[in-house]
Amino acid sequence: MRHCSAAQAAMCADPSPLGGSEPAPRSGPGPAARTGSTPAAGAWPGRPPGLPGAVPPPSVPLAFLAAASLGLVACGAAWAWAWGWAGSDPSADPVVAAVHLGVLATLATGVLGAVHQFTPVITGRPLRSVRLARLVFVTWLGASWLLPLGVATEQVTVTAASGALAGLSLVLLAVNLAGPLAVRGKGTPVTALRLALAGALSTSFLGVAFVGDRQRGWFVLSGHVDLAMGVLGLFGWLGLTYVGVAEKLWPMFLLAHLPGRHRSGRVAVWCLAVGVTLLAPALAWGADTLAWAGGVTTAAGLGAHLVSLAVHVRHRRRAVDLHLVFVLTAAAWVPVGAGLAVAAALVVPRHHHVGVALSAAALSAFGAWLLEALVGHAHKVVPFIVWSALRARGVATGPSGAPLLFADLYDHRWAAASYGTLTCGVAALCTGLAVSAPPLVAIGGALLVATGLVVAANLSAVPVRLLGRAAAPTGAQSPPSQPRVTG
Ligand code: HEM
Repeated sequence: MRHCSAAQAAMCADPSPLGGSEPAPRSGPGPAARTGSTPAAGAWPGRPPGLPGAVPPPSVPLAFLAAASLGLVACGAAWAWAWGWAGSDPSADPVVAAVHLGVLATLATGVLGAVHQFTPVITGRPLRSVRLARLVFVTWLGASWLLPLGVATEQVTVTAASGALAGLSLVLLAVNLAGPLAVRGKGTPVTALRLALAGALSTSFLGVAFVGDRQRGWFVLSGHVDLAMGVLGLFGWLGLTYVGVAEKLWPMFLLAHLPGRHRSGRVAVWCLAVGVTLLAPALAWGADTLAWAGGVTTAAGLGAHLVSLAVHVRHRRRAVDLHLVFVLTAAAWVPVGAGLAVAAALVVPRHHHVGVALSAAALSAFGAWLLEALVGHAHKVVPFIVWSALRARGVATGPSGAPLLFADLYDHRWAAASYGTLTCGVAALCTGLAVSAPPLVAIGGALLVATGLVVAANLSAVPVRLLGRAAAPTGAQSPPSQPRVTG
């Protein structure tokens, strides 16, 4: 347990991208009293005083994040089932199903939860409608589970339904976020969120075209075209979101105040966006020179993201904790993915099977980058959101009877265990795909199942117990007391 110094306390009191002020280790009036906040557009019943009105109800991001952990369980199970195909043919339907349980039901679902939480807070403007956010959740859940189901069972009608739901969901998302994202002067994170929304729409409509193609055979779905979708989805949508939002999260979670101006975050966002815009179509149409130009620009964006992380880590005032270990491990997957991608590009013309295996491994390494980052940040973000939800229901004390702390809301040993299972799981999966070793793929899948179960149980068990213990929901009226910040 670690408490803030006076300087850290000052930073703690900066507006938090999670909604509300990061609690400071001092007694005194709560955030509502300090800021004299008034109900704002987007307010919801039971919102604790002091939480900015733009923040959506906790059930919005939490529904996405809970679904993402179930997606991880299903993704692991699908890889354990598809292990035989993964070694011989990485584009076989069972592999495509496992890939999409990973990228859609896990990563994209988690990223959508984060986007619904952070967009209103970063921009200071509420979503157009909470009801629309719930509709995005339901349609996205349908799309992300039906696609793998339809592909695995070769039911084109189910696949077609998933394509329609994915398109609808992303259009609804764009409508809901258009207002907040139109805000000016909010810097790199908002630029990244805008570009990532364009990436999400492009990926989904490419997905709709793929789904249509499986039904009607409009064009040849070669490995290169599939790779274009992987690049667009992983970097142009999910990666861009993480790279942009991290610029807002790292200063807070690492207690890092950067002196002077640092452009690496901005360079990362723009290079990634420009790189993907060149690389994805070049892959689809087999334009080698353009593909190398796009690849180098994308790599520059990822490099700038790592430079930004290094600067934040150098200026951090928080001691090493599990979140930092997750973030650094996530970052380590970026050079691994880049190395595998270059190896794949060089090898594929001569040894097609080996090259395809290496490109599948490269995509899985970049997926590991985002998954480690998602799970690591979930251990910070979920307790923040759950804390305000519990306060709204009158829960004021933790399991020990002392004032409720973020750090009380999950077991830290189980969190460390989930880091171990996740890191070993993605390493086994990536290696299994690279060297065509099906047993490693199966082990990786089993470890991902374990990770999904442990994370879901660990982040929900204490809050559920506290809710069960709580008396009548009268706490919405009482202002939240300030918990101490712990490491
Ligand atoms: C983050 C978003 C996405 C990523 C990273 C992604 C990635 C990929 C990858 C890597 C493949 C090739 C898989 C393999 O050969 O084993 C693929 C294929 C495919 N994707 Fe996606 N995808 C995304 C979103 C979508 C969406 C939204 C849909 C439609 C709803 C979709 C539909 C398909 C289909 C139908 C195929 C199979 C094409 C074939 O038959 O070769 N994808 N995707």
